[in-house]
Amino acid sequence: TQNYQITLLPGDGIGPEIISVAVDVLKVVGKKFDIQFNFTKALIGGAAIDATGEPLPASTLNACHQSDSILLAAIGGYKWDSLPSNMRPEAGLLALRGKLKLFANLRPARILPQLIDASPLKKNVVEGVNLIVVRELISGIYFGKPKGIFATKDGEKRGVNTMAYSESEIERIGRVAFETAKKQGHKLCSIDKANVLETSHLWRDCMNKLAGEYPDVELSHLYVDNAAMQLLRAPKQFGVIVTGNLFGDIISDIAAMLTGSIGMLPSASLGNSSLGVYEPVHGSAPDIAGQDRANPLAQVLSAAMMLNYGLNQPKAAEFIEKGVSQVLELGYRTEDIMSANMNLVGCKTMGDILIQTLETMD
Ligand code: NAD
Ligand code: IPM
Ligand code: MN
Repeated sequence: TQNYQITLLPGDGIGPEIISVAVDVLKVVGKKFDIQFNFTKALIGGAAIDATGEPLPASTLNACHQSDSILLAAIGGYKWDSLPSNMRPEAGLLALRGKLKLFANLRPARILPQLIDASPLKKNVVEGVNLIVVRELISGIYFGKPKGIFATKDGEKRGVNTMAYSESEIERIGRVAFETAKKQGHKLCSIDKANVLETSHLWRDCMNKLAGEYPDVELSHLYVDNAAMQLLRAPKQFGVIVTGNLFGDIISDIAAMLTGSIGMLPSASLGNSSLGVYEPVHGSAPDIAGQDRANPLAQVLSAAMMLNYGLNQPKAAEFIEKGVSQVLELGYRTEDIMSANMNLVGCKTMGDILIQTLETMD
């Protein structure tokens, strides 16, 4: 039996509802594949602020350091929206990524054949979409200094953030992207704003330099505005996308709609060690929290990514992905992916049906 220590970070909003589905799924898969998961819950985000006054308590960070993998749901909500930025739930998530040095965020967007009618885009546009966004996660404008709200000489306030990238930061995310492209399809598109921003100019130079080491990868470049448009016009032109922190945040929410819903998009946040955070791309969805309306599948697929990237259990990961396809094939849909003649279910029922399905699959 393989034993793994997993830290669970349910966070806020729909977080607790969706993570409990993923935990049940992991338990079933554990039985099938002879894997023993030891789960420990820890606080992050608004829940941690309410309990301890801090969005990322030291005890949470310790628990994370002592685990084999971290499964995170989502943080944030109306209640904490007026706090200063360094005390908000979001600051806890950013600190977690920063402290664990998780510089690479992989966000695959693949449309499942069962969900073609769930996308607002036309079938011929989205059918066969299979791309992955490699987002830089611990630098760029999210982390650059100076940052803050400062008083000017004229007595008004001035909000400041700084977009900055060093060559080494670009190179390390570039390598992850080139390696990813080498494994899947050999197409890499780097997205920047090199026509205006110096950081992007350096970004482009570094990517071009790296391309020399990866002759089998076909590198292209797009400006971020055009890329946003191209993603909706002809998404199948993309294989692997590499981009900075802020552009990656925005581009991946756009990519989500190619798959039917942001409720379907998982992610892996990785660094140089094997300790990663596995988290859906979406947020805490406060507008539907506590109503049993959330789609738990992005969370479940994030658990599959954990098995794949963090725990080296690709068969167990594939089993979960097969189970998800199977449940959709049976016609069950949460409201975000609902389409004509399908069977509308809540978060909990979606989870229960997925578990029954996994239990009967071989
Ligand atoms: P959001 O992703 O939480 O929600 C956007 C829309 O998508 C909402 O209408 C929501 O109901 C819907 N949605 C999201 N996930 C869904 C799911 N699994 N099933 C069904 N519908 C789903 O983005 P937002 O509303 O801009 O942000 C809400 C809060 O979440 C904010 O505090 C934000 O900072 C935070 N946030 C956290 C993360 C994270 O923890 N990684 C990511 C994004 C946003
Ligand atoms: C995400 C979220 C976060 C980000 C926020 C909540 C800090 O939007 O994971 O995509 O911007 O990285
Ligand atoms: Mn985001």
